[in-house]
Amino acid sequence: MRKVKLGDLEVSAIGLGCMTMTDAYGPSDRDEAIATLRRAVELGVTLFDTANGYGRGENERLLGEVLAESGDAVTIATKFGFVAGADGPPTLDGHPDRVEDRCDESLDRLGTDCISLYYLHRPDPNVPIEDTVGAMARLVEKGKVRFLGLCEVAPETLRRANAVHPITAVQSEFSLWTRDAERGVLQACEELGVGFVPFSPLGRAMLTGTINDPSQVEGESDFRKTLPRFQGAHFDHNRALVTALESIADDHRVSAAQLSLAWVLAKADFIAPIPGTRRRTWLEQNVQAADITLSAGTVSDLDQLFDPTAVSGGRYGQSWMQSTDTAPDEQS
Ligand SMILES: NC(=O)c1ccc[n+]([C@@H]2O[C@H](COP(=O)([O-])OP(=O)(O)OC[C@H]3O[C@@H](n4cnc5c(N)ncnc54)[C@H](OP(=O)(O)O)[C@@H]3O)[C@@H](O)[C@H]2O)c1
Repeated sequence: MRKVKLGDLEVSAIGLGCMTMTDAYGPSDRDEAIATLRRAVELGVTLFDTANGYGRGENERLLGEVLAESGDAVTIATKFGFVAGADGPPTLDGHPDRVEDRCDESLDRLGTDCISLYYLHRPDPNVPIEDTVGAMARLVEKGKVRFLGLCEVAPETLRRANAVHPITAVQSEFSLWTRDAERGVLQACEELGVGFVPFSPLGRAMLTGTINDPSQVEGESDFRKTLPRFQGAHFDHNRALVTALESIADDHRVSAAQLSLAWVLAKADFIAPIPGTRRRTWLEQNVQAADITLSAGTVSDLDQLFDPTAVSGGRYGQSWMQSTDTAPDEQS
């Protein structure tokens, strides 16, 4: 597998998002999830993405258990900063006094004494970013964390954070149908030498062409049913764009998922997307995208097909959108 540099951290050009292995998009099969993690290691994937909140800690435990056998050969990235709400969206907590406790809990669940890449899941609007990142930097000094990352930050927040301690990676939603990062964050990453890790690069499965009806995401434990883009008329409109994407993919003899990942990879050389899957078949297909090179013409055709004004509906509902640090004019 081809490698890329995120700051000073080298990882596989395609990582593995592990969130759905503990039920975020409907029930998961634990045995297949474990087999998927092991197959990913065999295929040369070295970046595995989790968070303290996924599966209420179960996701970190799963990765810790299965990936222990790979030791330092793999990077497990985890996150803190969301506090699960009893009902509705989580609240944010980036208070410096609590950062080390959250880290210790993750270290315990992962069964390790050092987290390779530790992200703030969302900046806490009530805590200056300098204070949260200052507390994260102390974890690096203590040897509990190697590299620091931030999720869903605006360029100015990244600059302020990076002035306190070098930031290795920014992780934000980025895909054909979520292009916000092209309006400032990618440029700031390049300027500062920070890597970029696109999450939901397959549009939470929409860009794979396998979602043909909103009823496919309406299960009880499927988070996607809360997202405007998957609902009603928005869905129908967006599905038509995906049909056009499938046609371009056919012309290139690749799948829509592979074409979507190749488009993301074509955007810069400091990018490592983390497509999520809990199935070996999808994983095997996705890692092949690291070797697909698109012509400038194809990238431009896809840019135009998925012009941000062409996509219908927000990527999050209002309360979740408010938890991002994205400037209002960057919201989609
Ligand atoms: N920082 C954040 O706030 C944040 C937010 C969301 C996600 N993330 C991270 O980003 C990772 C990826 O995002 P995501 O899982 O939301 O969305 P995604 O990667 O865009 O899409 C994942 C979905 O696509 C399906 N899929 C994957 N490969 C496929 C293929 N080749 N053909 C057909 N279907 C395919 C998966 O199915 P199966 O699961 O059934 O295999 C899953 O339903 C997560 O796992 C998580 O680690 C971070």
